[in-house]
This record gives sequence, C-alpha cells and structure tokens, in this order.
Amino acid sequence: MNRFPLIRLMGALACVLASGGAQAVSSGAPPQKLSDGVAALLPMCAACHGIDGVSSIGLYPNLAGQKPEYVAKQLRDFKSGQRSDAVMRPMAEPLSDDMIEALSRHFGTMKPPR
Ligand code: HEC
Repeated sequence: MNRFPLIRLMGALACVLASGGAQAVSSGAPPQKLSDGVAALLPMCAACHGIDGVSSIGLYPNLAGQKPEYVAKQLRDFKSGQRSDAVMRPMAEPLSDDMIEALSRHFGTMKPPR
C-alpha cells in the first residue's frame, strides 16, 4: 500500500534524470557555425571539460557560460606560457587567434551549470 508514494517519487526522479540528459545533449550542440578546424578540436576539449562545457572531474574547470574574453585570455596565456599548466599548454599552443576567439565564443554561449 504505502509503496505507491515511493514508486511515484521514482517515476518523477526518472523524468528529471531523462530531461536533464536530453538537455545536456541539446546544449552540447554548437550554438553557432564553427570552422572545421575548430569543430574538430571540440571533442578533445570535451574529453576534459565536458561535451556541454561542464566538467565531471574536480580539477578540470567548467567552461560553459564563462566570459568569452576571459576564456580567450586564458588560452592566449597558456599559449605564451604566462599561465603555466602542463596539460593546457600543449592544447593552446597550436591555436591561432581566430581559433581562440571561436572557441571562447563557443563556450561562452553554452549554458552554465546551475
Ligand atoms: C587532458 C585534459 C584537458 C584537455 C584535453 C583540455 N583541457 Fe583545458 N584545462 C584542463 C585543466 C586541468 C585546466 C586547469 C589548469 C590549471 O589548473 O591551471 C584547464 C583549463 C582550461 C581553461 C582555463 C579555465 C579557467 O577557468 O581559468 C580554458 C579556457 C581551457 N582549459 C580551454 C580548453 C580548450 C579550448 C580545450 C580544447 C582545445 C581544452 N581546454 C582541452 C584540462 C584539459
């Protein structure tokens, strides 16, 4: 008898999880047209920063919703060595200024985590 509320709760939870998952997929879609070179980089960035710009690993920062100017500055600083990180430096080194701008806009327009 009193199992019904639990079942309803689980049903509601399943809905929340399902819609959360669907949201993650849709917000993972590029918000604007990216050049092929930049689009090809995204799966690599996503491996650490999450497909939707929200990382699932504590030491890897979220990028979704971050200010594009800030993201661009960090990428330029990683590239020049002004910001030192053994993981990010080789990621930023091959990026052109145009790629940095495009990646920064891309992550900036993604939905930030709540
Ligand atoms: C192997 C994992 C890995 C990959 C791949 C990776 N990153 Fe990172 N990224 C990190 C880590 C770790 C940091 C934090 C560095 C630190 O502690 O200073 C970081 C930091 C950053 C930051 C600074 C964030 C902030 O809040 O200051 C930006 C921007 C960034 N990454 C962009 C990118 C982009 C764009 C790509 C793809 C071209 C990428 N990353 C690929 C691991 C990764």
